[in-house]
Amino acid sequence: MSINLKNKNFLKIIDFSKEELTYLLDLAEDLKDKKKKGISVDTLKGKNVALIFEKTSTRTRCAFEVAAYDLGMGCTYLEPSGSQIGKKESIADTARVLGRMYDGIEYRGFEQEIVESLAKYAGVPVWNGLTNESHPTQILADFLTIREKFGKLEGLNFVYMGDARYNMGNSLMIGCAIMGINFTACAPKKYFPNKDLVEKAMELAKESGAKIVLTEDVKKGTEKADIIYTDVWVSMGEPDEVWEERIKDLLKYQVNSDVMKNAKESAIFMHCLPAFHDLNTTVGKEIEKKFGLKEMEVTNEVFESNQSVVFDEAENRMHTIKAVMKATLE
Ligand code: CP
Ligand code: NVA
Repeated sequence: MSINLKNKNFLKIIDFSKEELTYLLDLAEDLKDKKKKGISVDTLKGKNVALIFEKTSTRTRCAFEVAAYDLGMGCTYLEPSGSQIGKKESIADTARVLGRMYDGIEYRGFEQEIVESLAKYAGVPVWNGLTNESHPTQILADFLTIREKFGKLEGLNFVYMGDARYNMGNSLMIGCAIMGINFTACAPKKYFPNKDLVEKAMELAKESGAKIVLTEDVKKGTEKADIIYTDVWVSMGEPDEVWEERIKDLLKYQVNSDVMKNAKESAIFMHCLPAFHDLNTTVGKEIEKKFGLKEMEVTNEVFESNQSVVFDEAENRMHTIKAVMKATLE
């Protein structure tokens, strides 16, 4: 089947089929290979993209910028306080302005409906660089990394630990369900993905053969795992006041050496990053002062271990985002 994603938006994983996601992963693999060999891919010369960031970023911003330059495009970065968006100008108006100047728009911000509305009015492809509900470009990078490590996706056991009801847990559950990866959310009940989304994941899983499991039991949840994944306990945009409750609720679900030992011997550790695994960050130091914790969602031992593939994931953000821009613009 021939896949054509030209002019399509990239807003959430559920909008894509297994074949389309596989096509993007294959394209990313090819672009990565070309980058390593120094083969130019600047076929989008003359095009320009706008990168809107209402929340901060290291990986996503740099991945979009480097990928745009490698494809021959110009790009403009609009920082959290550097535009009129939302304050003096509506999303619909912003979309219609930027759509007249740019060939594609990346958006990172708050509610999913904002990026959906941007896409509705822009008239050019819009790519979601993270919303509260969804982080689709991260999922592509994670799946490329898993494919590189295991040579396949189907049939692997993927375990997500911690706050599974936010952007990462949601998108990974749906992505796994589409691709035929068995997905377990290992978390306290109140941090399970929402019921509607779980139902959608179950539907998709019927087709792909994946199993979707929600469990509070760390031992049962992590045994036979091929991949152990976690994310920060408090996401961007959430108030500092929630830290106390999150630590109380989620400490039991910290990825530590006991968790890794309980998984398969060949298991890998993944994290979208940034991660709180030591005291070398301002937030890390503040949390230690307030709650006496030296590491949070993952211990430094696991983060720095041979099982950790977090920097491969980070690199793959660039190759996969390049694939998304190329596929939707060319
Ligand atoms: N993983 C990720 O999206 O990282 P940034 O917040 O640095 O972009
Ligand atoms: N859940 C995190 C992901 C960061 C890439 C956040 O939204 O801050």
